[in-house]
Amino acid sequence: MERINPLSEVMAEHNLNYYQIHNKSSTHQERLTSSIAPDYGKAVSRMIGEQYDRLIELKSLKTNDNLKVLEVGPAEGLLALNILRNLRKERPEVYKKIEFHLADFSIHSTLKKNLEEFEQDGKIKIWQHNITDKLPVKGFHFVIANEVLDDLPATQATLLNGLVHSYHVEEKRKSQFGENKSFSLVFRPSPSTELSKINSYVIRHGLKLEEKSWPIIYFGVEKALKNFSSAMAPHGALFLMDYMNDSSHRKGIWEELGERGPSVNYTAPLDLTSVKSIALKNGFNHLWQGRLSDVLSKHDVHSLSADKEIRDFEGPILGLPYYAMLFSKPGKK
Ligand SMILES: C[S@@+](CC[C@H](N)C(=O)[O-])C[C@H]1O[C@@H](n2cnc3c(N)ncnc32)[C@H](O)[C@@H]1O
Repeated sequence: MERINPLSEVMAEHNLNYYQIHNKSSTHQERLTSSIAPDYGKAVSRMIGEQYDRLIELKSLKTNDNLKVLEVGPAEGLLALNILRNLRKERPEVYKKIEFHLADFSIHSTLKKNLEEFEQDGKIKIWQHNITDKLPVKGFHFVIANEVLDDLPATQATLLNGLVHSYHVEEKRKSQFGENKSFSLVFRPSPSTELSKINSYVIRHGLKLEEKSWPIIYFGVEKALKNFSSAMAPHGALFLMDYMNDSSHRKGIWEELGERGPSVNYTAPLDLTSVKSIALKNGFNHLWQGRLSDVLSKHDVHSLSADKEIRDFEGPILGLPYYAMLFSKPGKK
């Protein structure tokens, strides 16, 4: 039987992830926030410090409570490493309270080793977990999803001859999946399971499906934000960072893939407005948004090399800006 599935589901089924498909074991050069990890980690650690002060002021954190931080999709843990190092140096009283959880569905081989000094200090907890499933731990005061949401399952739908079609991936040779990576992308009438997901998304978001429009349906982001929301403490903050477009007129989810197959970056381009509206629907308040360079300058991190990396990456490499968004959960009623 012909197998037709959204790309992300095909990958999940075959237990493939970003690293396996790209065969990039520990090269972090392709990710901007890894290339500038010390500067970026410093800025995010200051953000966590601010959140700590805010919770103390709001009396949401008592002096004996731990500050529970969760980073989802930490990969090799470079961001966590630099956050923790900087906190230990600049805010030892916050570092003392911190309990840093890391959740990834594919634990990177160097994650534990990179964070060894903090593991010995009893600061970190690593769990293997898919963030589209309910989180097993609750009460987080700060959640970080850095360059992760765009990896989650999404599809694109349109109306053709009165029928809902969605973007599908056909594996050309199933048995050789992963070896020849042979895919093609087509719009096909949606199978019933997917159709019901698309319909409910369309209704919830008041979208209008019409011929010649191809809205992106962010199934995975919906699930993940719902899970984060229910795992957060009152006044908890959520920090999202990805390359995102600030216009809703994205061309296509996998158009960049073309006929070449996933030898190029396959991830779904995120659209700021959609991600924001999903967060608001899940009970978050929007606190702030800005470009990656603003995250650094807002937290008094000034670095010419980081500025250059950001300019280079956002331009020719990805052609998309990096955006950050900060949300917070309301307090207890
Ligand atoms: C592009 S990397 C980002 C790495 C890191 N946050 C950084 O900025 O250096 C994406 C990470 O998210 C993880 N990931 C993707 N989808 C996930 C899911 N559904 N559940 C948990 N982790 C996921 C991948 O395994 C990978 O480690």
